[in-house]
Amino acid sequence: MNKTATLTTTSREETLALAAQFAKLLGGGEIVFLRGPIGAGKTVFVKGVAASLGLKSSPTSASFSLMKQYKNKHTRLFHIDLFRLEEGEVFNLGFEEMLEDEQAIILAEWPDPIAAMLPADRLEMNFVLEHADTRRIELTANGCVSQALLEGLCKAVAH
Ligand SMILES: Nc1ncnc2c1ncn2[C@@H]1O[C@H](COP(=O)(O)OP(=O)(O)OP(=O)(O)O)[C@@H](O)[C@H]1O
Ligand SMILES: [Mg+2]
Repeated sequence: MNKTATLTTTSREETLALAAQFAKLLGGGEIVFLRGPIGAGKTVFVKGVAASLGLKSSPTSASFSLMKQYKNKHTRLFHIDLFRLEEGEVFNLGFEEMLEDEQAIILAEWPDPIAAMLPADRLEMNFVLEHADTRRIELTANGCVSQALLEGLCKAVAH
């Protein structure tokens, strides 16, 4: 069964703080799909996660604009952004390494072109633009790993 929750942030800084709480829950192997319109705060959230894990951006040879890899000795995080890509265009772009890495943390904006290639257990975060700097973030989990993330995040923000 799906689990859902809704969170709200009222500034970029608050979204970064949420990302820092979220980062603490990650152990490797988590998949997050970030949805919502341009300027909703998806990239702010992803960069916040990478920064609070202390990860450095490491250049990926192919398609740098579509996939950025952040890593340190223990953790690999992939930031995907497939804006305007079609499903048929994702082959030979260098995603194979990421898809074979079961311990990678994958955070994907505009994820639809690659969705069918990833496990179903992923946390969906739908960023909704409200007034001014307020963003509503609708969370949906559809598996054990993503449910644990959702519950952990809700618990963390309740404190
Ligand atoms: N509550 C908030 N959370 C996150 N960002 C906010 C918030 N309020 C205002 N902002 C601003 O909104 C913008 C969000 O930009 P961001 O690049 O994260 O959007 P995005 O969802 O990744 O868009 P795109 O689909 O183009 O990649 C930033 O300029 C940020 O400063
Ligand atoms: Mg973005």
